[in-house]
Amino acid sequence: MYELNKDKISSLLQTKLNIFVYNEIDSTNSQLRCLYNGEPLLVVADKQSQGRGRKGHSFFSPEKGLYFSYGFKYPFNEKLTLIAALSMLEAIEKLYQLKLSIKWVNDLFYQNRKVGGILCELHNDLFIMGLGLNILENNFPDDLKDKAISLNIEIDRNLLLATFINIFNDYLLDDSEVISKYTNHCFVINKEVSFNIDNVTYQGIATSIDERGCLIVKNDQRTFVLDSGEISLIKY
Ligand code: BTN
Repeated sequence: MYELNKDKISSLLQTKLNIFVYNEIDSTNSQLRCLYNGEPLLVVADKQSQGRGRKGHSFFSPEKGLYFSYGFKYPFNEKLTLIAALSMLEAIEKLYQLKLSIKWVNDLFYQNRKVGGILCELHNDLFIMGLGLNILENNFPDDLKDKAISLNIEIDRNLLLATFINIFNDYLLDDSEVISKYTNHCFVINKEVSFNIDNVTYQGIATSIDERGCLIVKNDQRTFVLDSGEISLIKY
């Protein structure tokens, strides 16, 4: 396993970026918020003691995974979650020829299990994109062991992270193909899904993803435009 190295990451980036590397931190998203000084910033850790997921969930973050946050000035835009998912999927495929898929909106899947997740946050004009990826861990806690997976190959985390940032930055400059590419990798499309709105459960077929990154779900009664939140597949 390649150790995280700030100079190595820096040398592989197409643009200059302030980088902080930690052996252990509570959460890279939280740390980035403390360190941010107006310039784009990357915070990466070998391990997190209080990794955070969406909806107040924790994110299991043992050592030797890839946990990082990228922060910059940007108006909040849910499409950035899609850009992050697509960029990591493409970086992994380009470097290691592994095929991942995406569960709308923020989950990366490998062999039908969750291998990574994305947590985007906005604090005033600071946009923080946090991404966690399971790499070699196979000892998951009971509540995750049937749902989670690792890539289970030797990964150069410095190279993967830099490749991700380069792809992500390119998509920030030109996002014209993001929705179509994301849709092609999103395995919930054309599947029956369920979701909750105000404590009521609905079902329908996920038909497409619109220009803002919302999931369109249709049933006999109506069409839903979901802008965030969790969906479940009725059948895999
Ligand atoms: C999810 O699956 O709900 C999102 C998980 C996001 C985890 C990453 S790991 C790096 C960054 N720091 C955190 O505390 N969370 C994100």
